[in-house]
Amino acid sequence: MKKIAVINGPNLNLLGIREPDIYGRTTLKEIIANLKKEAKKYNIKIKAFQSNHEGKIVDFIQKIGLKKYFGIIINPGALTHYSIAIRDAIKAFDIPAVEVHLSDIENREDFRKISVIKDVCVGQVKGMGPEGYKKALETLMSFDKNKN
Ligand code: DQA
Repeated sequence: MKKIAVINGPNLNLLGIREPDIYGRTTLKEIIANLKKEAKKYNIKIKAFQSNHEGKIVDFIQKIGLKKYFGIIINPGALTHYSIAIRDAIKAFDIPAVEVHLSDIENREDFRKISVIKDVCVGQVKGMGPEGYKKALETLMSFDKNKN
């Protein structure tokens, strides 16, 4: 069975209670459970990881980077906007990654408009709320078709 890693960064463990007007009321646990259901249709296994620590996210990417993962779905939270370390970790391996944001980072504060990981990812999904994770899965699956 193919495996996809789903990585969530700082404060995303607070989904459901954190700024619900921006991020909604769905918890991360619910997002992952729904994504697992969706992934089953593609015969994909989801490995979920969340951390509030940049280095732990880098460690996780390195760990899975050395294994045979089909793809990465990553919402790095605030680290999106400044973590060159996460960018470099994604770039170090040949695993396609799709970036996800619940909110539309283009239409918020200026500092959210920059994603330092965007150009090392095969796609970016933003402003779709929890559904964005499913869209990211679809993007990874279509990326596979394009390759063959
Ligand atoms: C976010 C957007 C980021 O700017 C913010 O720091 C987050 C969540 C999103 O999913 O919309 O923590 O990545």
